[in-house]
Amino acid sequence: MTEEIRKGLAGVVVDYTAVSKVNPDTNSLLYRGYPVQELAANCTFEQVAYLLWNGELPTDAELAAFEQAERSQRALDPAVKRIIDELPLTAHPMDVLRTAVSVVGALDPSWNDSSPEGNLAKSVTLLAKIPAMVAYDQRRRRGQDLVEPDASLGFSANFLNMTFGSVPSDVVVDAFDVSMILYAEHSFNASTFTARVVTSTLADLYSAVVAAIGALKGPLHGGANEAVMHVFDEIGSADRAEAWLDDALASKRKIMGFGHRVYKNGDSRVPTMKTALDTLIEEYDRPDLLALYTALDETMQARKNIKPNLDYPSGPAYHLMGFDTEMFTPLFVAARITGWTAHIMEQLASNALIRPLSEYNGPEERHLAG
Ligand code: ACO
Repeated sequence: MTEEIRKGLAGVVVDYTAVSKVNPDTNSLLYRGYPVQELAANCTFEQVAYLLWNGELPTDAELAAFEQAERSQRALDPAVKRIIDELPLTAHPMDVLRTAVSVVGALDPSWNDSSPEGNLAKSVTLLAKIPAMVAYDQRRRRGQDLVEPDASLGFSANFLNMTFGSVPSDVVVDAFDVSMILYAEHSFNASTFTARVVTSTLADLYSAVVAAIGALKGPLHGGANEAVMHVFDEIGSADRAEAWLDDALASKRKIMGFGHRVYKNGDSRVPTMKTALDTLIEEYDRPDLLALYTALDETMQARKNIKPNLDYPSGPAYHLMGFDTEMFTPLFVAARITGWTAHIMEQLASNALIRPLSEYNGPEERHLAG
């Protein structure tokens, strides 16, 4: 009997999760019950990471201990630096990051400790170390030296300082922190599901994270924030947006930064990220970029009525902050490491091997001649 095939697992509910709730009907996203907009307005990324992992926001004492653990592990391990240095500049930063995270796992003598405490400790380690890897990769591509971490700075200020060699204005730090919060978690998206599939085999946390980085790289998922900026570069200016879009749609191109598998009436994270982008547009005095952003969005609504997703405002935001376009998806990793690892721990807490079925449509049984 032919089973119903659900291509792309569209609409299939495969498990429970208490980490986040995406509600496409109300365009809302809750992390452990809290609306993401409220968290972005009132919390730091560190508080949100703690919430995702522990289920509750930290008390002052819990936050202080958590920050101390994160801040003390930010340095780039010399072995990881050496391996990054070996990789050619033709390598995509997502491939560099995937390799570097894999090295951190191989260097960890307790890689196989998958207890809740062991995995929580590994999660904090990766949260602390991924910015150092991304920042150093950005710097070496510009012929610049490593900047050591500064334990007196919060996560986002330190990340930006390690990337650019100075802490930018509060407007920039706040916009970056908001982007980290918005990117932190989004239920059973492709990369998180990948992490859960790997975890379901009882492979270790690092293996699951490395696989998730691979899944995030694709332009239909995390790679879209990079692709959005390429689109902006290709269009050039607002007055060219309409003609460009008509050509692109006529040739059946998918327009990066628009559309979503779950949200069909707008991504709940976009208004918050757009507000952050607006502060950056003002800070860097770039009304031309805003005009292009608006022209492409308005034309897309008029032609297809397909709404922008989070990658649409975050791409130009990271551009204004000064990141090279190919670094944008690694920034997504720096945030999503929190969601991935929360799901890895949740998967292990009530594990079942994830192993779907397929309907065979190849040749009928046949036999070798003679
Ligand atoms: N550009 C043009 N057409 C689109 C787009 C788009 N960005 N998104 C959807 N459509 C069209 C589809 O071609 C389809 O048209 P059809 O019915 O004529 O074939 C229709 O809208 C319905 O789309 P689906 O294919 O059902 O959408 P699906 O859920 O499979 O895809 C996806 C979602 C992959 C995100 C898609 O919208 C897309 O490719 N977007 C561009 C990539 C992107 O921005 N990804 C980021 C995702 S969000 C994130 O990772 C933070």
